[in-house]
Amino acid sequence: MSEISKVGIEKIGLYIPKYYVDLVDLAEKRGVDPNKWTIGIGQEKMSVIEESEDIVTMAANAANKILTEEDKKAISQVVFATESSIDFSKSAASQVHRLLSINKFAKSYEVKQACYSATAALLNAYNHVKLNPEEKVLILSSDIASYGANSGGEVTQGAGAIAVLVSNKAEILELSGKSLALTYDCYDFWRPSYREYPLVDGKLSTDTYINMFKENLEGFMEKYEDSEDSLQAFLFHLPFTKMGKKALVASKEDLGEKYGKQIDQWLDKYEDSTRLTRQVGNLYTGSLYLALISQMIYGDLEAGQEIGLFSYGSGAVSEIFTGYLAENYRDHIDVEDIKDSLNTRKEMSLDYYDEEYFKPKYIENQDREISLGEDVEGFYLEKIEDGKRYYNHR
Ligand code: COA
Repeated sequence: MSEISKVGIEKIGLYIPKYYVDLVDLAEKRGVDPNKWTIGIGQEKMSVIEESEDIVTMAANAANKILTEEDKKAISQVVFATESSIDFSKSAASQVHRLLSINKFAKSYEVKQACYSATAALLNAYNHVKLNPEEKVLILSSDIASYGANSGGEVTQGAGAIAVLVSNKAEILELSGKSLALTYDCYDFWRPSYREYPLVDGKLSTDTYINMFKENLEGFMEKYEDSEDSLQAFLFHLPFTKMGKKALVASKEDLGEKYGKQIDQWLDKYEDSTRLTRQVGNLYTGSLYLALISQMIYGDLEAGQEIGLFSYGSGAVSEIFTGYLAENYRDHIDVEDIKDSLNTRKEMSLDYYDEEYFKPKYIENQDREISLGEDVEGFYLEKIEDGKRYYNHR
């Protein structure tokens, strides 16, 4: 492990919405064999939002779990990664900046490249903190993965937010500085500005993901020969829990002669990193970082070990980068809070889900007062007036 630099993830916070849809029940309602969804796709439940939640409230609630007053003074950038934007001009970052009273000299902006953008933000933050070691960067990944009722992607929906604080005190994951990205230009998943829900070519998206992983992996291993034996586990962007496994199995078929032993080891550790996604669903920009949290909670990796991370965003950009797990990294995650958030969730009735949940949220004029559930806590959306969103806290 590098002794000179400890730049990387200091803190990570997760916000999971209070409601979920049970995918066995939904499969039955849709006339699909539940095994297709629970075994073939690998999903059991998906998070769904309440009317008083949006990407801003979820991100603010995730960040509020981890930031101290000292952090708020040291943060010089608030970067909001999302593909569920609520405004084509104003960034959601400035709203979170205000809600959390982050110091006024921090710059705030939004970034986009499907599910990949939080990784671009993370690796840029790494470079920024290397040059400015006293500063911290807050990265917010917040999304509502929605494909619509009865759509092919319905089983791969989800919602939630992850806040990552990058600093020179990497208490969780010290970034190694090793990375290799890859760009394709394709329409595997896209959402033109007039559409409430994305368009997706499911087969092309899974094939592109797999092919980019293989090409990215080969390129990465050639660029960093020392990584060949050192990567103890691989974490993946997980639109559904089977996706990373499909990429590993396909890579073993094509690259098995060179990297078969390592791929077997990554397959061995793989399930630990998927347990949260199985219960929450696709977080889009936050998905890879949900896999990191899952690996930290359920896995058995040791401090100092190097792990690989594969980020993928349709359209398409992928990137492989690595990091070293910090000493006592498990102590820096609130396991109890995360388990509690999962265990106290409530099931959304399928009637409500089918009749209300998919009412247009963004595209049409949405001015309204929000009806608040009794148990709403933390940051919430109060009303939308003239297209302006007003938030409150309780
Ligand atoms: N029992 C167990 N497994 C079953 C089954 C059953 N009764 N019926 C089907 N399956 C398996 C299939 O064999 C297949 O397994 P495999 O992938 O290992 O071959 C798996 O379930 C999925 O079946 P498939 O027919 O490919 O699913 P689909 O046509 O419904 O599409 C997605 C699945 C993921 C492509 C679709 O949900 C989608 O478009 N999602 C959104 C886009 C996305 O997430 N892309 C990922 C890259 S970002």
